[in-house]
Amino acid sequence: ERRPSGQQTTQTAVSDSAFLRACRREDTPHTPVWFMRQAGRSLPEYLKVREGVPMLESCMRPELVKEITLQPVRRHKVDAAIYFSDIVVPLKAIGLDLDIKPGVGPVVAEPVRTRADLDRLRPLTPDDVPYVTEAVGLLTAELGATPLIGFAGAPFTLASYLIEGGPSRTYERTKAMMYGDPALWSDLVGRLAAITGAFLRVQIEAGASAVQLFDSWAGALSPEDYRRHVMPASAKVFAEVAPYGVPRIHFGVGTGELLGPMGEAGADVVGVDWRVPLDEAARRVGPGRALQGNLDPTVLFAPSAAVEAKAQSVLDAAAGLEGHVFNLGHGVLPTTDPDALTRLVEFVHARTER
Ligand code: CP3
Repeated sequence: ERRPSGQQTTQTAVSDSAFLRACRREDTPHTPVWFMRQAGRSLPEYLKVREGVPMLESCMRPELVKEITLQPVRRHKVDAAIYFSDIVVPLKAIGLDLDIKPGVGPVVAEPVRTRADLDRLRPLTPDDVPYVTEAVGLLTAELGATPLIGFAGAPFTLASYLIEGGPSRTYERTKAMMYGDPALWSDLVGRLAAITGAFLRVQIEAGASAVQLFDSWAGALSPEDYRRHVMPASAKVFAEVAPYGVPRIHFGVGTGELLGPMGEAGADVVGVDWRVPLDEAARRVGPGRALQGNLDPTVLFAPSAAVEAKAQSVLDAAAGLEGHVFNLGHGVLPTTDPDALTRLVEFVHARTER
């Protein structure tokens, strides 16, 4: 018998981590915890290393990405790292003129609104994002047994930024295209699905051991419109990465009525916001999928005892689930006290130790 190399030993340890075991609906030593936006503005060490570096530029510097991604793992002892980037990075990488404006979000110089505009959405190749391959490699070398989650924006959410030209509350132009020119819409989200699928593949090939597809704004859609106009493109993304066998997480905000189809799109784990209790979410999603969530991120502004009571009700609602990854119902808010997050990780681990 050959002894496993150090690298193989680490791969086995990653594969056996509480996070990946929960995603696969296997038993775990404790409920794994990570937080959407765990790397970011809530951490003073993040603000320090980002000083003077624009957001999109920071995503293209592998050493900086590595440092920022590791910060919450060191500080909070979360069970997974999430690759530091933004959902618009692959769009920037194929040459779209866009920027992330502080306090606003992604802004697109020339919005995508006509068939001619689609020509700007060319396919993405690994050569477009060498910094991603490099940063993921640096990260997996340092993370040891802690899994790295890769991520991307889902076609609907990306389309909303491209069509509106920036953040929106109503998605009026997006929906106008969806209802008014379904053929153009379908071509647009089809191209975005290919770009997103390719971007996730780069992360997996470089060593990411799970992926999360963020359809953050899909909650703006009715179930009927979601199934008809959005689910096929998201399903295409999941199908692209299916051969790798890594867990696929699917998350959106306000998607209580969409949890069933979001699972059916091809997710192994469905992310749930705080509006639907996890036991009810499990009924909506059905058997064969794990759930991730779902503490309201604003609960962290309350005193510890209240945070613990609310976290306990998440755990209670999750008691009968096939697999549970503890998370917030959306990202960590920038003014969150980081110590409250560290205490929450300790609490969930202590309460679920088996
Ligand atoms: O803490 C931070 O937020 C710092 C860095 C930052 C990111 N994106 C990292 C990111 C900043 C300033 C942005 C800009 C941005 N992009 C915003 C915020 C605007 C603001 O200033 O408040 C938004 C809304 C976007 C678009 C976007 N990016 C969406 C819709 C998503 C999906 C997740 C979600 O929040 O719904 C992202 C992903 C994203 N951007 C991540 C990170 C670290 C995701 C990975 C993770 O969960 O850690």
